Amino acid sequence: MTKLAIIGGSGLTQLDGLEIIDEINPDTQWGKPSAAIIVGKFNNNEILFLPRHGNPHTIPPHKINYRANIQALKDADVSEIIAVNAVGGITQEMTPCRIVIPDQLIDFTHGRIDTFYEDNLKEVVHIDFTSPYSESLRQQLINAANINNIDIYPTGTYAVTQGPRLETAAEIIKYEKDGCDIVGMTSMPEASLARELEMKYVCCSLVVNWAAGKTDEIITMDIIENNLKEGMGKVMTLLSALFHERQ
Ligand code: HPA
Repeated sequence: MTKLAIIGGSGLTQLDGLEIIDEINPDTQWGKPSAAIIVGKFNNNEILFLPRHGNPHTIPPHKINYRANIQALKDADVSEIIAVNAVGGITQEMTPCRIVIPDQLIDFTHGRIDTFYEDNLKEVVHIDFTSPYSESLRQQLINAANINNIDIYPTGTYAVTQGPRLETAAEIIKYEKDGCDIVGMTSMPEASLARELEMKYVCCSLVVNWAAGKTDEIITMDIIENNLKEGMGKVMTLLSALFHERQ
């Protein structure tokens, strides 16, 4: 049976409606994951839940031990990951509180440990990463949204930035010229590490602000938190719909 995990991001440290069965505290060869992994039932589906920023939310994006998180899920027999993350909207359709299911990414991070394949190798490994997100999981989310009339945007290119600061207006102009639609800090190296361990990985991205320079407004934590509160309700509705369809 396929085991599915949800990695929660900002605004999703706990999963409301998750009936907790167990909690595991794994230690991997790469260290400990961000928090205990919750094993539970969500809409009658057994799932695992891991908050990537810790519980409470204290680990910034560039300090997350992404290898430990992905390895811990692999060791728990997870084969599918839905990664929830908060992002800024760059292109016109990427309005605050909208859910986007990206189909591409560009990695602008630096200095993050981003591979399992560096030491003690029998051979050099290069994974195919043409399509960084699992198309089958993407389609499941898109179908669940369509069937249940949940507004989502079904494609988009995710610019993954280093953070923790937000971007300059000039950086956002550059990312837009590069073809990016949304900007966030966590989809890399999560996506490529999952691919290295042959796990399906998809992002469910919630737009929580217009990206830098897209409005005259300064981006405040208040704006982000208000949109997170409103939008996470939609994310939960989408996840419930997905699990309903998967039964
Ligand atoms: N930029 C980068 N990451 C983000 C943003 C943003 O504007 N909003 C939420 N996460």
